[in-house]
Amino acid sequence: MTVALDHPLPARVPSAPATIRIGLLGLGNVGSAVARLAQEAAEPLRMHGVQPLLGTALVRSATRERPAGSLVSHVTEDPDRFFADEPDVVVEALGGVTAAHALVTRALALGIPVVTANKSLIAAHGDELLALADRHHATLRYEASCIAGVPFLGTYERRPLATRVHRITAVLNGTSNAILSAIDNGSTYAEALEDAQRRGLAEPDPSSDVTGADAAQKLTILLRLFGQVRIDPATIPSTPLDVLYPSDLEASADWKARIKPIAQASWRHGAVHAFVAPAFLAADHPLANLPDVTNGIILDGIDGAHCFTGPGAGPAVTAATLLDDVVEVATERTVRHRAREAAPCATVVDHPLTGWFVRVEALTTSELADMLMSAGIWCDRLASHGNCTYALTLPATLEGLRSAAGALRAAGGRAVLAIPALDAAEAAC
Ligand SMILES: NC(=O)c1ccc[n+]([C@@H]2O[C@H](COP(=O)([O-])OP(=O)(O)OC[C@H]3O[C@@H](n4cnc5c(N)ncnc54)[C@H](OP(=O)(O)O)[C@@H]3O)[C@@H](O)[C@H]2O)c1
Repeated sequence: MTVALDHPLPARVPSAPATIRIGLLGLGNVGSAVARLAQEAAEPLRMHGVQPLLGTALVRSATRERPAGSLVSHVTEDPDRFFADEPDVVVEALGGVTAAHALVTRALALGIPVVTANKSLIAAHGDELLALADRHHATLRYEASCIAGVPFLGTYERRPLATRVHRITAVLNGTSNAILSAIDNGSTYAEALEDAQRRGLAEPDPSSDVTGADAAQKLTILLRLFGQVRIDPATIPSTPLDVLYPSDLEASADWKARIKPIAQASWRHGAVHAFVAPAFLAADHPLANLPDVTNGIILDGIDGAHCFTGPGAGPAVTAATLLDDVVEVATERTVRHRAREAAPCATVVDHPLTGWFVRVEALTTSELADMLMSAGIWCDRLASHGNCTYALTLPATLEGLRSAAGALRAAGGRAVLAIPALDAAEAAC
């Protein structure tokens, strides 16, 4: 059927894009990428109503030569000079907490919107800064602080019904995923870490990535948004990557499973269960096959699971998410984010009930099974691999596992390790 239109559709009249003067806090990896992208992506930004103008950048050392220095109008070490430039929006890419907190506070108190990539800042002071933004009719956007390559936070902030989530399971640290993927492909831990540093994925001091501290901060941000509860990231039970042996990944592969760097949190009536650890994932778990630096997240809600995966957050990806946030802030007349109410603070974070992947040296499979059973823990599978004996258990508490591990050591077992084991059945996407 053909429908004849009496009147042609009116052509869309583009309104002139608003010039937005961006003040850059930091001109390092991310700040420089923002400066480059603001120029390269001028056209799509203009189509969305924003013409970015790079104003002043604040750095520690203004005399240092830096390629992105020519892209901004001034580079300064002086915060007063930075604010005298009267930015329309501040992009915070400093890192750390103390200086970033002082400068973001100053911007918001002046009513200047801020977008940030700083998970440490948001995990430590997110509530306080959002309240400050609200009081001064400013905005604080932090999509880039938490798996910037998988932008989803803004969508959920605007959708109270979609946000009815009771559990998050995620790969939040792409560097850890790259390291475990390399070990899976035959590298040692030291080689995998060195390779991640050579590729610019891991910092010269990689401790925040490999201890789980980075993922714990991101999980804290997610828990605040979805669980309406505040926690101190240091209270999340965490296991570093370097406890693993290559044989652990080989033994998992024999069971058609993978070990991935997992952060999980669930909550109910103010009680929080969470962990950050390398975890054994059944082969058909939706996060089991995320390669290299890829991030992924499963949000279990009352209507089923939402799953997102996307690239790890390098400087270019982070810059794109920061600039998208700038566009959102600049066009915010149509999108208001609700102010957050004060959230209760959970002082105790327990480990959830999970299955466990257990390793021990110098004990047989039947000794391992007997000792786990005497602690009330049932084995689903047992195997030997090289010098090590492995068990996959049914769900048990962390306390139960700790007491079983003590008994294994007392019986002469060496190199005892227990990491969470997640079933694919509870994570359908
Ligand atoms: N790198 C990534 O791929 C990535 C991904 C996602 C999120 N992030 C987050 O983005 C933020 C920035 O990371 P980055 O890798 O860009 O860091 P970076 O390369 O170390 O850059 C930091 C910048 O901030 C400046 N700066 C630091 N402290 C300062 C202070 N007290 N006063 C004035 N300037 C100061 C530094 O000045 P100088 O240049 O003079 O030293 C530098 O320009 C962090 O929060 C990080 O977690 C990074």
